[in-house]
Amino acid sequence: MIPVILSGGSGSRLWPLSRKQRPKQFLPVVGDETLFQSTLLRLQGIAGLESPLVVCNEDHRFMVAEQLREFDLDNQGIVLEPVGRNTAPAIALAALQAREQQSDAVLLVLPADHVIEDKAAFHEAIELAEVEAKAGKLVTFGIVPTQPETGYGYIQAEGQGTTASAVKRFVEKPDYETAESYVSSGDYLWNSGIFMFRVDSFLQALGEYQPLVLAACERAMVQTHSDGDFIRLDTKSFEQCPDISIDYAVMEKTQHAVVVPLNAGWNDVGAWSAVWSVGQQDGNGNVLRGDTMLHESSNNLVYSERRLVSLVGVDDLIVVDTKDAILVAHKDNVQDVKKIVDRLKDEG
Ligand code: GDD
Ligand code: MG
Repeated sequence: MIPVILSGGSGSRLWPLSRKQRPKQFLPVVGDETLFQSTLLRLQGIAGLESPLVVCNEDHRFMVAEQLREFDLDNQGIVLEPVGRNTAPAIALAALQAREQQSDAVLLVLPADHVIEDKAAFHEAIELAEVEAKAGKLVTFGIVPTQPETGYGYIQAEGQGTTASAVKRFVEKPDYETAESYVSSGDYLWNSGIFMFRVDSFLQALGEYQPLVLAACERAMVQTHSDGDFIRLDTKSFEQCPDISIDYAVMEKTQHAVVVPLNAGWNDVGAWSAVWSVGQQDGNGNVLRGDTMLHESSNNLVYSERRLVSLVGVDDLIVVDTKDAILVAHKDNVQDVKKIVDRLKDEG
């Protein structure tokens, strides 16, 4: 089994810590290791695992290499995307690279920016999934939903319980009302964004549902040249690839999906409120990092990179102080941090 680490996202809702040049997966958002490093470290102990393939943006190559080196983490290649084209192409590149060695290798596709608290439960889920993947299924890992989150995929399974079951329906990012009805029905799971399948099963499905994606990735890979661990693509071919996630491209369409329940303290640390909830809280529910001093304040998250940040008589705030920008947000509005990032982009 080959882990494929997807680390090309931008993490804009964790601004101002997460930046274009150093997005959240390359930061120690929770704990001492970066999210990218934790993703690899939590695989240790899984039987039969080969060294990972990393797929990231060209701009981040030295950071990736450096972060691997820091923990002596092996890799079997770092595929460099000249531009981001979303997860379907990123996974296709990894699958095409792996096919060079073994066309029925099993891939374990992992986002580089998640927190999973219970490593043993995670490993058990992987064991269950491997049987299904080897049999040609496209395996997803399902999380019991807690609120009508619209940024996730929803999975309706044939059966319920602790084993793998066939997927009846996969709906990516439904609107709020639909998400609400799914959650209250008790019949749906969230898609964790972790997948497992054989290289040939995935490429066959991609060819069936998104032939343009497959063709562009194949063309981009024909011209690859390796330079050390780095695998470079043909830029022009890859630029022509449609921008689409695996969820829309394949998971919503395939008849061969299976879901394995993942009950392991999963969190995709998408926004600051999630960083607060997975962080180490003090007696007043505050999560603090750096030089901070609080008085009669509770349930806040305070991150300070360089100077003393102090809060008096306020609750439920996110305060992030970096070298060149400060964020103060209410914990209920953290999804909108992205709006500031969009405006910064527009206004240059
Ligand atoms: N290499 C590479 N290239 N990686 C990418 C790219 C890309 O172009 N785009 C995204 N990624 C990485 C991100 O860094 C992240 O680790 C992962 O792929 C998923 O991408 P997101 O952009 O974060 O997806 P999402 O959060 O909107 O939705 C996915 O994850 C949810 C759970 O967190 C979907 O799979 C949903 O169905 C799922 O519920
Ligand atoms: Mg995400």
